[in-house]
Amino acid sequence: MIIEGRTFIISGGASGLGLATAHLLTAKGGYVSILDLSKTDQDALFTSFPSISKSSSRVKFFPCDVTFSDSISTAIAGTVGWINQTHASLAGIIACAGISWPAKIIDRDGNPMDMPTAKKVIEVNVFGTLDFIRLALPHLITVPPHGPDGERGVVIMVASSAAFDGQPGQVSYAASKGAIRSATLPMARDLARYGVRVVSIAPSLFDTNMTKGMGGKARESLVRVMEWPRRAGRGEEFAHLVEAVMENTMMNGECIRLDGAVRMPSKM
Ligand SMILES: NC(=O)c1ccc[n+]([C@@H]2O[C@H](COP(=O)([O-])OP(=O)(O)OC[C@H]3O[C@@H](n4cnc5c(N)ncnc54)[C@H](O)[C@@H]3O)[C@@H](O)[C@H]2O)c1
Repeated sequence: MIIEGRTFIISGGASGLGLATAHLLTAKGGYVSILDLSKTDQDALFTSFPSISKSSSRVKFFPCDVTFSDSISTAIAGTVGWINQTHASLAGIIACAGISWPAKIIDRDGNPMDMPTAKKVIEVNVFGTLDFIRLALPHLITVPPHGPDGERGVVIMVASSAAFDGQPGQVSYAASKGAIRSATLPMARDLARYGVRVVSIAPSLFDTNMTKGMGGKARESLVRVMEWPRRAGRGEEFAHLVEAVMENTMMNGECIRLDGAVRMPSKM
C-alpha cells in the first residue's frame, strides 16, 4: 500500500492517536478525512497541521457522532464528494473514536455498575466502530485494485491492552476492546475477497486527552509495572505502527499489542 496520493478516513481523528495518525499520513503525502464530534475546535485542529492550511486540499473535517448511523453516512458522503474532487482514492478506514468511562461491576458500597454508562462505552467503542467501518466499506471495496496483489485498502481498529489484561474498573471498557480484538479475524476473512486487510492495534497507556486526567499516583503506579520503556506511549509511535501496517501487505487478521511488554497486574 502506497500512502501518497490516497485518502484515509479516521473516526476520532481530532485528538490523540487518531490525530497523530492524521499528521503522519499527511506528512507522507496522504489525504485525510477527519470524522469527529461537532464540538471539535476546527481552528485549533487545523493549526495543529503546521504544513497544511484550513483551505488545503489534503485534510478535511466532517462532524460526526459514530453512535448515529445518519451522522456517519453524512460524513462519509462528504468524504466521497471530496475524493471526487481530489481523485485521491480511498485506501484506509481507521476507527479511533472511543471513550473509556471506568466503572466496577459493583462498587465499594455494594452498588451495581450504572448500566447507561456501561452501554455508552459499548455503543461508542463497539457499535460506533463497526457502524463506521460498515458504512465506509462500500466505497473501499469498489476502488480499483492496486499493486501486484490487487490490494484495495486496509481497515484499522483500535483495541487496547485491556482486551488482554483489563484492570479493576474496566469491565465494560475491556469488554468493548475484547470485542474489537475478536472482530479482527472474522472481518479480515469477510474482506479477503475484496483485497482489503483488517488489523487492530492494542495500545497500553498512551499520552492523549483520554489519559491526561489520570492522577499522578495512578500514572506512577502504572509506569512502575511497565517493562521497557517505562513511560506512556506517544501518539507518533502509534502512528508509526499504522504506517507499518499500511505498508506491509502480510499484516492481516491480527490484533497487535503496542505496549512495551507491559502486562497490567490486578493491583498496583
Ligand atoms: N490513550 C490510551 O492510553 C489508549 C490505550 C488503549 C486504547 N486507546 C484507544 O485509542 C482510541 C483513541 O483514543 P485516544 O487515546 O486518542 O483518546 P482521545 O480522547 O484523545 O481521542 C478520542 C477521540 O474520539 C472522539 N470521539 C469520542 N466519542 C465519539 C463519538 N461518539 N463520535 C465521534 N468521535 C468520538 C473524541 O472526540 C476524540 O477526538 C480509543 O478507541 C481508545 O479507547 C487509547
